[in-house]
Amino acid sequence: MPIEDITEKVSDRYAKAASTGEQMCCPTSYDFADLKSFIPEEVLKISYGCGTPAGLKTVRAGETVLDIGSGGGIDCFEASRLVGPSGHVIGIDMTDTMLAIARKNAPIVTTNLGYASPNVEFRKGIADAMPVSDDTIDVIISNCVINLAPDKRKVFREMFRVAKPGGRFTISDIVADQPVPQYLVHDAGKWGDCLSGALTLTDYMTGMTEAGFLGIHLTTFSPWQVIDGVHFFSVTLTGYKLPVHPAVPAVRYATLRGPFSRVVDERGTRYQRGIPQPIEPETALLLGQLPLTSYFLLSLEPLSLDHTDSRWSAVLPSQAPCVWQGYFALFAGPFLEVADDDHHVYRRGEPLEICSKTRDVLEAEGYVAHFAILNRAGQGVSGAAVTCSSDGGCC
Ligand SMILES: C[S@@+](CC[C@H](N)C(=O)[O-])C[C@H]1O[C@@H](n2cnc3c(N)ncnc32)[C@H](O)[C@@H]1O
Repeated sequence: MPIEDITEKVSDRYAKAASTGEQMCCPTSYDFADLKSFIPEEVLKISYGCGTPAGLKTVRAGETVLDIGSGGGIDCFEASRLVGPSGHVIGIDMTDTMLAIARKNAPIVTTNLGYASPNVEFRKGIADAMPVSDDTIDVIISNCVINLAPDKRKVFREMFRVAKPGGRFTISDIVADQPVPQYLVHDAGKWGDCLSGALTLTDYMTGMTEAGFLGIHLTTFSPWQVIDGVHFFSVTLTGYKLPVHPAVPAVRYATLRGPFSRVVDERGTRYQRGIPQPIEPETALLLGQLPLTSYFLLSLEPLSLDHTDSRWSAVLPSQAPCVWQGYFALFAGPFLEVADDDHHVYRRGEPLEICSKTRDVLEAEGYVAHFAILNRAGQGVSGAAVTCSSDGGCC
């Protein structure tokens, strides 16, 4: 299907939805009672997101925020409140009907927030060629839009171009646990439903890394739909355009504290728990970002740790029975690859079948935030417990 056809069909679909107020897309976790206090109903009723990227409080006072595919403006208006009168918010959308509703309501929100002048503007534009200057944005947000763009890699490159060094993104979108089959990709109607254009989690995160972002990690995860065995789910991901590194490095070594027994970062550096790893200044900047910083001790001199040290962290497998129940774990950053203390190796975005015992392990603090857990068993399963060998895992 030609790219122009996809873009035109998606735009027509959202123009129609905006003019009829039709309900679309996925459940979000907005506090609508709170939003109603300053955002008009006309905007709230055409909220078509799959997350709450601005409501996650990742946006700070005084920042410049860009919302890609701003629709009726719900996230721009929430960002407008969070950045305060000294901040600035830019919403980009390709659909005139959406832009008209957002622009009409902007002065009302400005008045409701008590600002002397508007801090939010809406520009017409397409996500893969945005009307935004280079290196100007502190935070890029987007809510259920990039899956609709025919060339995602171009969008990721655009995001990197406009982000300031030291800037970041927090994006909610629909992804799939496996490649979407061709019969769905070529179904123009399903593009508008945020299905046909969904990337796998691996491709999404790899595309962001190739564009230049680092420290990409999961903020929220929520299952959405299963179509012919393909699991579609909503994720909110955060990542960084690293700042320019200082001339004199203050950190030369990183020691992994755990609970992962080893990890590979997005620059390809490998770390073994407890063993000091020499690092480059760029890597020190990366490991200084949240949540990576909580997994390492950063030092000027090599620093070793062993299991008796209170800073060492591990989650040992329990002696519970191991039952196969259809669960798969998708590791979602901030590393390319990690290993646990039970012989499992998790690669970013790649589903790995896990038993009940491993599921319990992945719910422990230090792990839980970084895994999306799906159940691929069509119906309930009633497998018997498997005996695990004493020297290793059962799965
Ligand atoms: C699912 S709606 C989400 C709207 C808004 N983010 C929200 O949460 O309510 C998708 C929006 O993205 C816009 N859009 C889709 N593809 C786009 C693209 N390639 N460039 C710019 N805008 C796009 C559509 O016009 C529509 O307003």
